[in-house]
Amino acid sequence: MAFELNPDFAKDPEKHFNTLQVHAGWSPDPTTGSAALPIYASAAFQFDDADDGAAKFGLAKPGNIYGRLTNTTTDAVAARVAAVEGGTGAVAVASGHAAEILALTNLVGAGDEIVASDSLYGGTWNIFLHTLGDLGVKTTFVENNDIDAFVAATTPKTKLWYVETIGNPLVDVADVPALVQAANSLPSPVPVFVDNTFATPYLYRPAEDGAAVVIESLTKWIGGHGATLGGAVIDTGKFNWKQDPEKWHTLAKPDPSYHGAVFADVAPAAPFSTRVLGKR
Ligand SMILES: Cc1ncc(COP(=O)(O)O)c(C=O)c1O
Repeated sequence: MAFELNPDFAKDPEKHFNTLQVHAGWSPDPTTGSAALPIYASAAFQFDDADDGAAKFGLAKPGNIYGRLTNTTTDAVAARVAAVEGGTGAVAVASGHAAEILALTNLVGAGDEIVASDSLYGGTWNIFLHTLGDLGVKTTFVENNDIDAFVAATTPKTKLWYVETIGNPLVDVADVPALVQAANSLPSPVPVFVDNTFATPYLYRPAEDGAAVVIESLTKWIGGHGATLGGAVIDTGKFNWKQDPEKWHTLAKPDPSYHGAVFADVAPAAPFSTRVLGKR
């Protein structure tokens, strides 16, 4: 099972949030004893032999292939974020915007639709309206928490609902449990994507209320220092992509760029974050 992060550490009931946020995703180096996570600058990674390389490229075996896809340093960051969010896998990227673009484009394409809260960060609004709009994806904005409006705006082409836990800049709070319940009750259920940047997993974990995908701009409170950009896509493993393989074809149908691998089969616990990793 390639690329799937293993937040087993987070499942230890002895390890609470404060421990996870400092230690999850990395163990002290057994050779040097170094406790700090080193920055692995390598773009290339060595294979044991051709079979080892083939298995890793074919997603049949976990391990580093190439630094754009996986890198031990960024994977440790991702595993730590997955642990504190209660996710099954995650991808750490260069910014919150990068996380949003990757998360969205792994599910939507030309002709698809999105229903989004109207209480969103301006840059995110621009992604929906202009970046995705120019690519042929239509977003309908509805009043935050007007669940009837979310349902009414949903069509057979709708691929996801999108909200911010605490809207930027209105600081209004999305009713994620109610939204997830409504999204799951649709004749054709849709995943709810939640930008949890303003709440942070310390205060609220959308995974626990059934959100399918969580987005974080690590630049803000998770980074906490205003010095470094970062973003994360967290897979909660909560959405059943195989319930409608035609609709969720990016996850539930064979992927030609991975020799026909089906992400929902090769990484059943975290198919979404695995696809984000594998396709970036
Ligand atoms: C709620 C929210 N999401 C996403 C972003 C984008 O994150 P970044 O600036 O790391 O690209 C921001 C940035 O302000 C934000 O406030």
